[in-house]
Amino acid sequence: MALADLSVELDTDSGVFAADRLDRGTRILLDHAPTPPQSGDILDLGCGYGPISVAVASRSHHAQVWAVDVNNRALGLTRDNAARVGLTNITATRPEEVPDEVRFAAIYSNPPIHIGKAALHDVLLRWLPRLDADGAAYLVVQKNLGSDSLTKWLTEQGYPTERLTSQVGYRILQVRRTSTGV
Ligand SMILES: C[S@@+](CC[C@H](N)C(=O)[O-])C[C@H]1O[C@@H](n2cnc3c(N)ncnc32)[C@H](O)[C@@H]1O
Repeated sequence: MALADLSVELDTDSGVFAADRLDRGTRILLDHAPTPPQSGDILDLGCGYGPISVAVASRSHHAQVWAVDVNNRALGLTRDNAARVGLTNITATRPEEVPDEVRFAAIYSNPPIHIGKAALHDVLLRWLPRLDADGAAYLVVQKNLGSDSLTKWLTEQGYPTERLTSQVGYRILQVRRTSTGV
């Protein structure tokens, strides 16, 4: 993975998203999303082999990054990649293993659009209420995979969402938590 501020070799594997190279949407997120908070807990929702976690944890050494995925192979790769890069501030775990009391200063995600709209909505409504009051989520979504309707839906749910940038068919959405969240 070669970014402007970070160049590291990461292991991937077949059966895990973007096994052959850094996904274009993930690269756009990592190139254009704001610098992560320098402390607190940060969520990488749907970590895959861990490129977002590794970049965020490298950029915020004093933050604790929670890398969650439902794919155990992905979690194993994320753990291996964190160790390979020498990062100790990543916890790769299944969603249900994240302690209930953990709240997130930020969420970064290339979300699992492929699971379908209803399931995606459930996943987002599971995690967005756990943002700190002044926290934000940064999601990269392809325009032709519904980024604009997702923006509208999130805003209707009480999470004001705006397009931070648009790059070659991908949008980075910034999702804010409001006092109406749980
Ligand atoms: C688009 S991929 C992104 C992977 C990685 N973050 C990247 O950028 O290469 C989405 C990931 O979400 C995971 N996923 C699917 N359903 C999930 C769920 N309910 N909770 C957490 N992760 C999920 C998939 O296994 C997949 O690894």
